[in-house]
Amino acid sequence: MEAGLYIHIPYCKKKCNYCDFYSCGGCDIVPQEYVDAVVREIGSHRGLKCKTVYFGGGTPSLLTANQVKQILAVADIMPGAEITLEANPDTLTQEKLDGYYAAGVNRLSIGVQTVYDKSLQVLGRIHSAEKAGQAFDMARAAGFVNISGDVMLGLDNYSVEEMKDTIDFLIDHGAVHISAYLLKVEEGTPFYTNRPENLATEEELADYYLACCEYMAEKGFIQYEISNFCHEGYHSRHNSIYWQLDNYLGIGPSAHSCMDGKRFYYERNVDAFIKGCQPVADGEVDADDYIMLSLRLKTGLDINTLKEKWWLEIDSRTMKKLEIYRRQGVLTIENNCISLTPAGFLAENVIASDIMSGVE
Ligand SMILES: C[S@@+](CC[C@H](N)C(=O)[O-])C[C@H]1O[C@@H](n2cnc3c(N)ncnc32)[C@H](O)[C@@H]1O
Ligand code: SF4
Repeated sequence: MEAGLYIHIPYCKKKCNYCDFYSCGGCDIVPQEYVDAVVREIGSHRGLKCKTVYFGGGTPSLLTANQVKQILAVADIMPGAEITLEANPDTLTQEKLDGYYAAGVNRLSIGVQTVYDKSLQVLGRIHSAEKAGQAFDMARAAGFVNISGDVMLGLDNYSVEEMKDTIDFLIDHGAVHISAYLLKVEEGTPFYTNRPENLATEEELADYYLACCEYMAEKGFIQYEISNFCHEGYHSRHNSIYWQLDNYLGIGPSAHSCMDGKRFYYERNVDAFIKGCQPVADGEVDADDYIMLSLRLKTGLDINTLKEKWWLEIDSRTMKKLEIYRRQGVLTIENNCISLTPAGFLAENVIASDIMSGVE
């Protein structure tokens, strides 16, 4: 079966103050027994043909090039597959990047967040803006063209200038893809118990988001998803698999999978994963998933797909509501597709639940 392959690397040098991804802090390397467990699990999925591979984390750039090679060697990777590795700028060296490229990695996603060192410190990041710049320069020197940068919006004492300076920096350093996320204060993180004083309010977050979408368009980047922008042809093929409800297999603690419409995931326990603990079932894909995920994409929700694949039609009362939304400028309806504008993306949850409760 063809699918996207996700590999979770649950190790970080230091936990950032806002992060609730499953990873252990205080690690400088990825233990070989973890790599062996990943190899074992991938090897147990006979017949899996990988359209994409994505090393996510945690901090996959703690892997040595040789460990990346070992993992890729056990997977059946289709010709031309997109192979992405997420990297924290502080963990990269020229030698490591050369090794990743030689191992077959052809896309990098670098966690920059902001280029204001003061904000990076508040976030608890271990890198500086200078390090981020060096990471991009070294990546390009290694041969990478498809490079993405992660940006966070609404940080401590944030401003539109900070957003623009960060985006300009990424573009100047050769990013062809940018992911921009609104800072979310997650329960269980240091930010939750010890919230910095000057984080953006909900209203300010909305303004920063809209300003960011506008600025990205000005700079020639296409917004193809709520938080993702790229140059023509450089959308994330792997992440698009998630949004299009295509097949993907996630390996590693906390990794989720969706294969043939069935969802399952590994529990958030690295020791259990190493010992061979298997994933648990998590229900099946349904029409609500289609509504929620398709609206995240600029291509939008296809009314024909809703009818033909899910046997559902949007009732007339809801169509009227959508027409009001359309006049308010939060969505467009063209060629039977409902597509959100940036203002609509801010209310995606509300619009999706209106549609979920208005289909029959
Ligand atoms: C797994 S991390 C990327 C790789 C690497 N661990 C790093 O941080 O450099 C994925 C991205 O999610 C975003 N992120 C993580 N936690 C977030 C939060 N609470 N709010 C907004 N964005 C967040 C950050 O932009 C981060 O770069
Ligand atoms: S944001 Fe990235 S580097 Fe920071 S703790 Fe989370 S996964 Fe690790």
